Order: sequence, then C-alpha cells, then structure tokens
Amino acid sequence: MPIKILGIESSCDETSAAVISDSTVLSNIITNQDVHEKYGGVVPELASRAHQVNIIPVVDMALKKAGINKKYLDAIAYTRGPGLLGSLLVGGSFAKSLSLSLNIPLIEVNHMQAHILAHFIEDNCDVKTDFPFLGVNISGGHTQIVYCRNYFDMEIIGETLDDSIGEAFDKCGKMLGLKYPAGPKINKLANEGNENKFNFSKPKVDGLNFSFSGLKTNFKRFLEKNLKNDKFFIEKEINNLCASLQLTITEILFEKVKIAAKQKKILNIVFGGGVSANTKIRGIFKNENNLKLYFPKLEYTTDNAAMIAIVGYLKFKDNLFSELNLESKARYSI
Ligand code: KG4
Ligand code: ZN
Repeated sequence: MPIKILGIESSCDETSAAVISDSTVLSNIITNQDVHEKYGGVVPELASRAHQVNIIPVVDMALKKAGINKKYLDAIAYTRGPGLLGSLLVGGSFAKSLSLSLNIPLIEVNHMQAHILAHFIEDNCDVKTDFPFLGVNISGGHTQIVYCRNYFDMEIIGETLDDSIGEAFDKCGKMLGLKYPAGPKINKLANEGNENKFNFSKPKVDGLNFSFSGLKTNFKRFLEKNLKNDKFFIEKEINNLCASLQLTITEILFEKVKIAAKQKKILNIVFGGGVSANTKIRGIFKNENNLKLYFPKLEYTTDNAAMIAIVGYLKFKDNLFSELNLESKARYSI
C-alpha cells in the first residue's frame, strides 16, 4: 500500500495543506493572505490570525480533493521552522493535535530542506538528479547555496549577509510604487523593457556569500537623482528599470552559483523558493557551462505543503519520526 502523508505548511503568509501518496501529490491547497498587501510586507500578528482562520478549511479541502478520509493517513508532516514563530505555532499545534487524535506519527520538517527536496515530488521535475548536487534556495526570507550530499545531509556553503534576493525585488519594487510582493510584478514589467538600459552596482563579496543591500541603496540613489530632473522618470522608464534591475539581481546570483559549482565540481543544480519562478533566472543558463539546472513547477516554487509532505514521505521511509513536545523554531538551519 502506498504511504499517505498529510503535509501542513504555515511558516509565513501562506496556509497550505497537501496529501501525498508515496511521492505523488494528490492535493496541494494554498491560500494566500491578501491582508498584508497594504502594509508593504508580511505583518506577523495578522499572519498568525489568518492561519487560525484558514487552517481547518484548508486541511479539509486538501483531504476532500485527495479523496482520502483522514483515518487512512499514515502520518502528519509539518513545518517546524524557520519562519514567523506565531505562524509556525498555528500549523505545528494543529499537526500535533491531529497526529495525537488519529494516533499516527508526527514528522517535523525543515522548510528550507523542503524547498530543495520538492525536486523529488513525482510530477515536479521529469528527470531527477542524483546526489550530490547543489541546492539554491531563493526566496523572500533566504538566499543560500546548499551542498546536498543526501536527503538529510545538507550543508550551507553560501548565504546572504544582509537582504535576501526576494527582498531585493520587493524593496526596490516598493521604491517604484509596486505593491508587495513586487517580485512577480517586476518580472512582468521587465518583459517589456530593455535590460541593458541602466547599470546598477554589484557587490564585491568574498567566497560564496551574497549581499543585496548595496544594490538597494544604489537603486534608491539612482531613482532620487533622476526624479530630481524629471518627476515622471519612474512612469516613463518603469519597464527598463525593472528589466535592468532584474538582470543585475540575476547576474549577482549566477556569479556565485557558477563559482560554487566549480569549487564543488558539481554540474546539477536544484532551485527552490518563490524567486525561482522568475523567468529571467529560469532562462539564463540554458546550454551554458554544462550545468544542468532543475527548476520546480510554478506551484512548487512558492511556499506550499506538497514540499512538506514529500519530506514527510522521505522521512517516513527512514522511520524519522518526531516527539509531540518539539518546539517550533523561528531560526532553524538546514
Ligand atoms: O518562497 P516564498 O513564497 O516565501 C518565502 O519563504 O519568502 O518567496 C516569496 C518571494 C517574494 O519576495 C516574491 O517577490 C518573490 O518570491 N517572487 C518573485 C517572483 N515570484 C515570487 N521574484 C521575482 N520574480 C518572480 N516571478
Ligand atoms: Zn519558503
């Protein structure tokens, strides 16, 4: 009999539940919280409250869509961290209560491992890579290059020293008057722009680490300078600004990915996280450097419970179960 796992994700502003049968996703329900848009970023307390409202209907919908009665579940997997503590507590407490009432095992999942291991969802990438490979997590909260020796033997070899790549998109987008999350909006506007029209600064950071705060400051100063001469500068140049910014961010990312691949002598690179939906990033390396890049399907890029459920399945096979008294962790390294 295939193993059926219910996955629950509530680390930030998406409440999500998914049911997986071995590595095949039967349902993956994600609700977004529009309440944050007007604040220009996620408001932690509002996120926790919205999770409380959403969690039961979302789990119910995931079970219904999968056509599974909860009594046939084999385990509950949930996001233990990293993330917003109040948000994590909602999903974690719900998962624990359900595992206790159904008398089935509980499996804790590291959200950042899950973004990478989403690769192993049956209908995600057509071809799966072998270990070792490099995982590249690019999201609103993280920017990291991870050396993956095995499913649960991962090591961060490079990460951001300040802002994440998603913050670079979102904060610069805010300066352009774009609402949170600005990343997808910049991506869309950039499609109509000339990416070589403007030049923005790239950081000089040793090793495999990243920095995006300098770009943010440079972008701000550039806008201020041009707005002094022409108050309609942003309106007139929005497409070119977005395209040039997107190119700079993409180049900063790939410079380090290339160095990491060379250092570790690895050709296979698995991307994860919301920013991996970006079409410039997805297109950049085609047929270059012999590198083989694996990008998730769009529904598995942003936060989703299918990625939590696949880790649940991988852990279940190894009998890696969790105690009910585990604390959620706002900071939780891979
Ligand atoms: O992984 P995710 O859903 O949540 C976090 O764990 O942070 O990532 C959200 C981030 C936001 O910064 C959003 O602007 C960015 O992903 N994002 C994009 C695109 N789609 C989402 N950034 C650039 N281009 C996109 N197409
Ligand atoms: Zn995430």
